[in-house]
Amino acid sequence: MELLDALRLQWEWGADEALLDAPQDRRHAPPPPPLAFQKPAAVPPAPRRAASTTLAGPEEAARIAASCMSLDELETAMRGFSGCALRDTATQLVFADGAADARLVIVGEAPGGEEDRAGKPFIGPAGQLLDQMLRTIGLDRTKVRIINTVPWRPPGNRTPTESEIALCLPFLHRQIALAAPLGLLTLGAVAAKALLGTEAQNGIRRVRGQWRQVRIEGLPDPLPCLPSYHPAYLLRTPLAKRDSWQDMLQMRAWLETQT
Ligand code: URA
Repeated sequence: MELLDALRLQWEWGADEALLDAPQDRRHAPPPPPLAFQKPAAVPPAPRRAASTTLAGPEEAARIAASCMSLDELETAMRGFSGCALRDTATQLVFADGAADARLVIVGEAPGGEEDRAGKPFIGPAGQLLDQMLRTIGLDRTKVRIINTVPWRPPGNRTPTESEIALCLPFLHRQIALAAPLGLLTLGAVAAKALLGTEAQNGIRRVRGQWRQVRIEGLPDPLPCLPSYHPAYLLRTPLAKRDSWQDMLQMRAWLETQT
C-alpha cells in the first residue's frame, strides 16, 4: 500500500512521463542492495493536499495583481506567489509568449507537460496546431500574446478546478489590462468560462464564434472577445476544425478593421 501511495503521489504531482532518453531494462540491472528491499521503518505520510486546496484567496491574488504596474512586475509577483497549490507540483510558472504590445491576446487553459518544462505556453502538439492556425490568417507568435487562464500546470494535465481558476483570475485580468490589447481570442471552455462567466457556463458550443464584450478591470472599455475551440479539442475532433476556421476568418476580418 505504501508503494502504491507513493506511486499515486508521484502521478498526482505530475511525474507521469519518462524523462530518460533511452528505456532502462531493469531485468538485467544488478540487484539493488538488500536495504532497498526492507520495508521502510516509517515512511512519513506524504504531505498531500486535496487537489482543489488553495493557500490564499482570490482577494490576496487581486491585491498583489493590482499592485503591479508592468508586465515584468506582474511576472515577478506571480513567480513569488505561493498561494496556489498548483505551484508546488508544477516545474515553473508559464507566464506568456509573444509580443507585450500585441493587438490580440490569446487565452488558453493551462500549461501541459512540455509547457511546464520549457516555461512557455502552447509549445506541444496543441501549440503547433495553434501556430498553423495563426499562420493561415497571417499571424505568428511575434504578433500576438499567448497566455493561459491558469499559469501553472495542473498535475497530470487535469482541468483546473473552479477554485484554482478563481484564484488565478486576478492575475489573468491584470495581465490583459497591462498588455492592453484591442481584443481577445479564448481557446476552449475553461478560458471562455473564466472570462465570459455565466454565459459560457453551459459549454463552449453555445458561445463559440460569437463576439462578446469582456470587462477587464483597469481598462476603460470592454474588450471584444471571440471564443473558439481549444486546439487540443481540434486534434481529437478534426471535424470541428471547420468551425475554428470560420472563427479564424472572423478574427482576421476584425483585425483588418482595427488598423
Ligand atoms: N494547452 C493550453 O491551454 N495551454 C498551453 O499552454 C498548452 C496547452
